[in-house]
Amino acid sequence: MRSFIGRDILSLKDFDRHEYARVYEVADMLEPYARDRKNGDLLKHKTLVTAFYQPSTRTRLATEAAMHRLGGHVTGFSDAKMTRAGDFYQEGIQDTVKMLEYYGDVIAMRHFQQGAPHEAAKHASVPVINCGDGWGEHPTQVLTDTFTINRLKGRLDGLTWILIGDMRMRTMHSISYALSKFDTKAYVISPDEMYFLPEFESEVRSMGFNFERKEHIEQVISEADVIYMEPVVQPDYTKSRQEATDDKGLTPANYQVTKDLLFSKAKGDAIVLHSLPRQDELTTDVDDTRFQRYWVEAYNGVLIRMSLLALILGAVE
Ligand code: CP
Repeated sequence: MRSFIGRDILSLKDFDRHEYARVYEVADMLEPYARDRKNGDLLKHKTLVTAFYQPSTRTRLATEAAMHRLGGHVTGFSDAKMTRAGDFYQEGIQDTVKMLEYYGDVIAMRHFQQGAPHEAAKHASVPVINCGDGWGEHPTQVLTDTFTINRLKGRLDGLTWILIGDMRMRTMHSISYALSKFDTKAYVISPDEMYFLPEFESEVRSMGFNFERKEHIEQVISEADVIYMEPVVQPDYTKSRQEATDDKGLTPANYQVTKDLLFSKAKGDAIVLHSLPRQDELTTDVDDTRFQRYWVEAYNGVLIRMSLLALILGAVE
Protein backbone atom coordinates (compact mmCIF):
# COMPACT_ATOMS: atom_id res chain seq x y z
CA MET A 1 0.00 0.00 0.00
CA ARG A 2 1.27 3.49 -0.82
CA SER A 3 1.99 5.75 2.11
CA PHE A 4 -0.56 8.48 2.79
CA ILE A 5 2.05 10.86 4.19
CA GLY A 6 2.19 14.02 2.12
CA ARG A 7 -0.28 12.64 -0.41
CA ASP A 8 -2.90 14.64 -2.32
CA ILE A 9 -6.44 13.26 -2.16
CA LEU A 10 -7.80 14.27 -5.54
CA SER A 11 -9.70 11.27 -6.89
CA LEU A 12 -10.87 7.79 -5.94
CA LYS A 13 -9.95 6.45 -9.35
CA ASP A 14 -6.68 5.03 -8.13
CA PHE A 15 -7.67 4.20 -4.53
CA ASP A 16 -7.26 0.49 -3.87
CA ARG A 17 -9.09 -1.76 -1.42
CA HIS A 18 -6.29 -1.67 1.17
CA GLU A 19 -6.39 2.12 1.14
CA TYR A 20 -10.13 2.18 1.82
CA ALA A 21 -9.56 -0.26 4.70
CA ARG A 22 -6.74 1.85 6.14
CA VAL A 23 -8.75 5.10 6.03
CA TYR A 24 -11.66 3.30 7.77
CA GLU A 25 -9.33 1.77 10.38
CA VAL A 26 -7.86 5.15 11.33
CA ALA A 27 -11.35 6.69 11.40
CA ASP A 28 -12.38 4.00 13.90
CA MET A 29 -9.28 4.66 15.95
CA LEU A 30 -9.86 8.43 16.10
CA GLU A 31 -13.61 8.24 16.68
CA PRO A 32 -13.45 8.88 20.47
CA TYR A 33 -12.49 12.54 19.81
CA ALA A 34 -15.75 13.11 17.92
CA ARG A 35 -17.96 10.74 19.90
CA ASP A 36 -16.86 12.15 23.26
CA ARG A 37 -16.72 15.74 21.94
CA LYS A 38 -13.27 16.09 23.41
CA ASN A 39 -10.52 17.62 21.28
CA GLY A 40 -7.07 16.03 21.33
CA ASP A 41 -3.62 17.25 20.35
CA LEU A 42 -2.53 14.87 17.60
CA LEU A 43 -2.21 17.71 15.05
CA LYS A 44 -1.46 20.58 17.46
CA HIS A 45 1.51 21.70 15.36
CA LYS A 46 -0.38 21.65 12.04
CA THR A 47 -2.66 24.08 10.21
CA LEU A 48 -5.38 23.37 7.67
CA VAL A 49 -6.04 25.97 4.96
CA THR A 50 -9.54 25.85 3.48
CA ALA A 51 -9.95 27.37 0.03
CA PHE A 52 -13.64 27.14 -0.90
CA TYR A 53 -14.63 28.78 -4.18
CA GLN A 54 -18.16 27.33 -4.06
CA PRO A 55 -20.74 27.15 -1.26
CA SER A 56 -20.57 24.31 1.25
CA THR A 57 -22.12 23.50 4.60
CA ARG A 58 -20.97 19.96 5.33
CA THR A 59 -17.65 19.47 3.59
CA ARG A 60 -15.90 22.61 4.77
CA LEU A 61 -17.24 22.50 8.30
CA ALA A 62 -16.66 18.74 8.72
CA THR A 63 -13.07 19.16 7.52
CA GLU A 64 -12.54 22.10 9.84
CA ALA A 65 -14.23 20.26 12.71
CA ALA A 66 -11.96 17.27 12.09
CA MET A 67 -8.90 19.52 12.33
CA HIS A 68 -10.18 21.10 15.54
CA ARG A 69 -10.96 17.66 17.02
CA LEU A 70 -7.30 16.69 16.47
CA GLY A 71 -6.06 19.91 18.07
CA GLY A 72 -4.92 21.51 14.80
CA HIS A 73 -5.40 25.06 13.55
CA VAL A 74 -7.60 26.30 10.71
CA THR A 75 -7.43 29.30 8.42
CA GLY A 76 -8.82 29.99 4.97
CA PHE A 77 -11.75 31.40 3.03
CA SER A 78 -15.22 30.26 2.16
CA ASP A 79 -16.13 33.11 -0.18
CA ALA A 80 -13.65 33.65 -2.99
CA LYS A 81 -15.31 37.01 -3.71
CA MET A 82 -13.51 38.32 -0.64
CA THR A 83 -10.15 37.20 -2.02
CA ARG A 84 -8.16 38.42 -5.02
CA ALA A 85 -9.43 35.41 -6.97
CA GLY A 86 -12.91 36.89 -6.88
CA ASP A 87 -12.28 40.60 -7.47
CA PHE A 88 -10.73 42.77 -10.17
CA TYR A 89 -7.55 40.67 -10.25
CA GLN A 90 -9.15 37.25 -10.78
CA GLU A 91 -5.97 35.76 -9.34
CA GLY A 92 -5.37 32.28 -10.70
CA ILE A 93 -4.98 28.99 -8.89
CA GLN A 94 -1.20 28.87 -9.32
CA ASP A 95 -0.52 32.25 -7.71
CA THR A 96 -3.09 31.66 -4.97
CA VAL A 97 -1.66 28.27 -4.05
CA LYS A 98 1.87 29.66 -3.95
CA MET A 99 0.58 31.84 -1.10
CA LEU A 100 -1.59 29.28 0.70
CA GLU A 101 1.22 26.74 0.98
CA TYR A 102 3.03 29.13 3.35
CA TYR A 103 -0.04 29.59 5.55
CA GLY A 104 -0.56 25.96 6.48
CA ASP A 105 0.38 22.31 6.06
CA VAL A 106 -2.55 20.98 4.00
CA ILE A 107 -5.04 22.69 1.66
CA ALA A 108 -8.69 21.61 1.43
CA MET A 109 -10.13 23.00 -1.81
CA ARG A 110 -13.59 23.15 -3.33
CA HIS A 111 -13.85 24.72 -6.75
CA PHE A 112 -16.43 25.18 -9.49
CA GLN A 113 -13.85 24.24 -12.15
CA GLN A 114 -13.32 20.53 -12.65
CA GLY A 115 -9.64 19.77 -12.11
CA ALA A 116 -8.86 22.92 -10.10
CA PRO A 117 -7.61 20.97 -7.04
CA HIS A 118 -5.42 18.88 -9.39
CA GLU A 119 -3.99 22.11 -10.78
CA ALA A 120 -3.44 23.37 -7.23
CA ALA A 121 -1.65 20.13 -6.32
CA LYS A 122 0.78 20.62 -9.21
CA HIS A 123 1.94 23.90 -7.72
CA ALA A 124 1.59 23.31 -3.97
CA SER A 125 4.37 21.93 -1.83
CA VAL A 126 1.77 20.77 0.72
CA PRO A 127 -0.95 18.15 0.15
CA VAL A 128 -4.25 19.17 -1.45
CA ILE A 129 -7.59 17.55 -0.61
CA ASN A 130 -10.28 17.77 -3.28
CA CYS A 131 -13.47 18.80 -1.49
CA GLY A 132 -15.50 18.79 -4.71
CA ASP A 133 -14.48 20.13 -8.13
CA GLY A 134 -17.26 21.18 -10.51
CA TRP A 135 -18.95 18.04 -11.81
CA GLY A 136 -15.66 16.17 -11.27
CA GLU A 137 -15.26 14.22 -8.04
CA HIS A 138 -15.93 14.36 -4.31
CA PRO A 139 -13.59 11.79 -2.80
CA THR A 140 -13.97 12.68 0.90
CA GLN A 141 -17.75 12.44 0.65
CA VAL A 142 -17.62 9.02 -0.95
CA LEU A 143 -15.04 7.75 1.54
CA THR A 144 -17.58 8.83 4.15
CA ASP A 145 -20.44 7.07 2.35
CA THR A 146 -18.60 3.79 1.83
CA PHE A 147 -17.32 3.90 5.43
CA THR A 148 -20.93 4.31 6.59
CA ILE A 149 -22.06 1.27 4.60
CA ASN A 150 -19.04 -0.79 5.62
CA ARG A 151 -19.85 -0.08 9.28
CA LEU A 152 -23.55 -0.79 8.96
CA LYS A 153 -23.36 -3.86 6.72
CA GLY A 154 -19.95 -5.13 7.80
CA ARG A 155 -18.76 -5.27 4.20
CA LEU A 156 -18.86 -3.57 0.82
CA ASP A 157 -18.66 -6.72 -1.31
CA GLY A 158 -21.85 -8.51 -2.24
CA LEU A 159 -24.19 -5.51 -1.99
CA THR A 160 -26.67 -4.15 -4.50
CA TRP A 161 -26.78 -0.37 -4.86
CA ILE A 162 -29.19 2.01 -6.51
CA LEU A 163 -27.58 5.24 -7.68
CA ILE A 164 -30.43 7.66 -8.30
CA GLY A 165 -30.48 11.30 -9.38
CA ASP A 166 -28.07 13.39 -11.41
CA MET A 167 -25.22 11.16 -12.63
CA ARG A 168 -23.19 14.24 -13.63
CA MET A 169 -22.72 14.87 -9.91
CA ARG A 170 -19.22 14.62 -8.50
CA THR A 171 -20.38 12.16 -5.85
CA MET A 172 -21.76 9.87 -8.56
CA HIS A 173 -18.38 9.88 -10.30
CA SER A 174 -16.48 9.08 -7.11
CA ILE A 175 -18.94 6.38 -6.00
CA SER A 176 -18.67 4.74 -9.43
CA TYR A 177 -14.89 4.58 -9.08
CA ALA A 178 -15.28 3.25 -5.52
CA LEU A 179 -17.80 0.55 -6.43
CA SER A 180 -15.57 -0.61 -9.28
CA LYS A 181 -13.11 -1.79 -6.59
CA PHE A 182 -15.68 -3.97 -4.81
CA ASP A 183 -17.88 -6.88 -5.82
CA THR A 184 -21.09 -4.90 -6.19
CA LYS A 185 -24.05 -4.64 -8.51
CA ALA A 186 -25.74 -1.31 -9.17
CA TYR A 187 -28.80 0.14 -10.85
CA VAL A 188 -28.41 3.65 -12.21
CA ILE A 189 -31.55 5.78 -12.49
CA SER A 190 -31.39 9.29 -13.93
CA PRO A 191 -32.95 11.51 -16.59
CA ASP A 192 -31.26 11.20 -20.00
CA GLU A 193 -29.84 14.70 -19.83
CA MET A 194 -28.25 13.90 -16.47
CA TYR A 195 -26.76 10.56 -17.39
CA PHE A 196 -23.00 9.78 -17.33
CA LEU A 197 -20.95 11.18 -20.21
CA PRO A 198 -20.14 8.36 -22.68
CA GLU A 199 -16.41 8.49 -21.96
CA PHE A 200 -17.01 8.25 -18.22
CA GLU A 201 -19.41 5.32 -18.68
CA SER A 202 -16.83 3.47 -20.80
CA GLU A 203 -14.09 4.19 -18.31
CA VAL A 204 -15.95 2.90 -15.24
CA ARG A 205 -17.32 -0.14 -17.06
CA SER A 206 -13.77 -0.99 -18.11
CA MET A 207 -12.69 -0.60 -14.47
CA GLY A 208 -15.28 -3.18 -13.42
CA PHE A 209 -18.22 -1.06 -12.25
CA ASN A 210 -21.09 -3.50 -12.78
CA PHE A 211 -24.32 -1.61 -13.43
CA GLU A 212 -27.56 -1.54 -15.40
CA ARG A 213 -29.59 1.48 -16.28
CA LYS A 214 -33.26 1.63 -15.18
CA GLU A 215 -36.08 4.13 -15.76
CA HIS A 216 -37.93 4.12 -12.45
CA ILE A 217 -36.94 3.34 -8.87
CA GLU A 218 -40.04 1.14 -8.45
CA GLN A 219 -38.51 -1.35 -10.93
CA VAL A 220 -35.58 -2.23 -8.65
CA ILE A 221 -36.03 -0.86 -5.15
CA SER A 222 -36.90 -4.33 -3.80
CA GLU A 223 -33.36 -5.54 -4.66
CA ALA A 224 -31.41 -2.67 -3.09
CA ASP A 225 -29.18 -2.90 -0.05
CA VAL A 226 -28.18 0.75 -0.48
CA ILE A 227 -30.11 3.59 -2.10
CA TYR A 228 -27.60 6.35 -2.89
CA MET A 229 -29.27 9.62 -3.79
CA GLU A 230 -28.64 13.01 -5.37
CA PRO A 231 -31.22 15.57 -6.47
CA VAL A 232 -32.33 16.02 -10.07
CA VAL A 233 -33.39 19.57 -9.20
CA GLN A 234 -29.87 20.93 -9.17
CA PRO A 235 -27.79 24.06 -9.61
CA ASP A 236 -25.08 24.22 -12.25
CA TYR A 237 -21.97 22.92 -10.49
CA THR A 238 -19.68 24.68 -12.96
CA LYS A 239 -20.74 28.04 -11.50
CA SER A 240 -19.29 29.57 -8.37
CA ARG A 241 -22.79 30.20 -7.11
CA GLN A 242 -26.35 29.98 -8.39
CA GLU A 243 -29.41 31.56 -6.80
CA ALA A 244 -32.71 29.66 -6.94
CA THR A 245 -35.50 30.79 -9.22
CA ASP A 246 -39.09 30.83 -7.95
CA ASP A 247 -39.90 27.78 -10.06
CA LYS A 248 -37.12 25.27 -9.50
CA GLY A 249 -39.36 22.40 -10.57
CA LEU A 250 -40.34 19.19 -8.85
CA THR A 251 -38.75 15.76 -8.88
CA PRO A 252 -40.56 13.15 -11.00
CA ALA A 253 -41.59 9.99 -9.10
CA ASN A 254 -38.94 7.99 -11.02
CA TYR A 255 -36.22 9.69 -8.98
CA GLN A 256 -38.00 10.13 -5.67
CA VAL A 257 -37.78 8.14 -2.41
CA THR A 258 -40.63 8.40 0.07
CA LYS A 259 -41.58 6.66 3.29
CA ASP A 260 -44.50 4.91 1.55
CA LEU A 261 -42.27 3.57 -1.21
CA LEU A 262 -39.69 2.27 1.28
CA PHE A 263 -42.22 0.51 3.51
CA SER A 264 -44.16 -0.95 0.59
CA LYS A 265 -41.29 -2.09 -1.67
CA ALA A 266 -37.81 -1.92 -0.08
CA LYS A 267 -35.96 -4.64 1.80
CA GLY A 268 -36.40 -4.23 5.55
CA ASP A 269 -32.70 -3.52 6.03
CA ALA A 270 -32.16 -1.26 3.01
CA ILE A 271 -30.19 1.92 3.73
CA VAL A 272 -30.85 5.36 2.28
CA LEU A 273 -27.81 7.61 1.93
CA HIS A 274 -27.89 11.18 0.67
CA SER A 275 -24.88 13.46 0.83
CA LEU A 276 -27.31 16.43 1.13
CA PRO A 277 -28.53 19.10 0.62
CA ARG A 278 -31.82 17.67 -0.65
CA GLN A 279 -34.79 18.96 -2.54
CA ASP A 280 -38.06 16.97 -2.84
CA GLU A 281 -36.37 13.78 -4.13
CA LEU A 282 -36.03 12.57 -0.54
CA THR A 283 -39.13 13.38 1.44
CA THR A 284 -38.69 14.38 5.06
CA ASP A 285 -41.01 11.58 6.22
CA VAL A 286 -38.09 9.18 5.58
CA ASP A 287 -36.09 10.90 8.33
CA ASP A 288 -37.78 9.00 11.15
CA THR A 289 -37.67 5.59 9.51
CA ARG A 290 -35.21 2.74 10.01
CA PHE A 291 -33.98 3.24 6.41
CA GLN A 292 -32.48 6.68 7.06
CA ARG A 293 -28.73 6.80 7.59
CA TYR A 294 -27.89 10.27 6.25
CA TRP A 295 -27.52 11.83 9.70
CA VAL A 296 -24.95 9.25 10.80
CA GLU A 297 -23.36 9.76 7.37
CA ALA A 298 -22.82 13.41 8.41
CA TYR A 299 -21.21 12.36 11.72
CA ASN A 300 -19.02 9.87 9.88
CA GLY A 301 -17.88 12.73 7.65
CA VAL A 302 -15.94 14.13 10.60
CA LEU A 303 -14.33 10.75 11.34
CA ILE A 304 -13.20 10.30 7.74
CA ARG A 305 -11.73 13.80 7.55
CA MET A 306 -9.91 13.21 10.86
CA SER A 307 -8.53 10.01 9.39
CA LEU A 308 -7.38 11.65 6.16
CA LEU A 309 -5.78 14.62 7.93
CA ALA A 310 -3.97 12.37 10.41
CA LEU A 311 -2.73 10.07 7.64
CA ILE A 312 -1.69 12.81 5.22
CA LEU A 313 0.06 14.83 7.90
CA GLY A 314 1.89 11.79 9.24
CA ALA A 315 0.34 11.74 12.69
CA VAL A 316 -0.40 8.04 12.24
CA GLU A 317 1.69 5.64 10.17
N1 CP B 1 -22.49 16.88 0.55
C1 CP B 1 -21.83 18.05 0.40
O1 CP B 1 -20.82 18.13 -0.31
O2 CP B 1 -22.40 19.06 1.08
P1 CP B 1 -21.87 20.56 1.09
O3 CP B 1 -22.04 21.08 -0.32
O4 CP B 1 -22.74 21.26 2.08
O5 CP B 1 -20.42 20.53 1.47
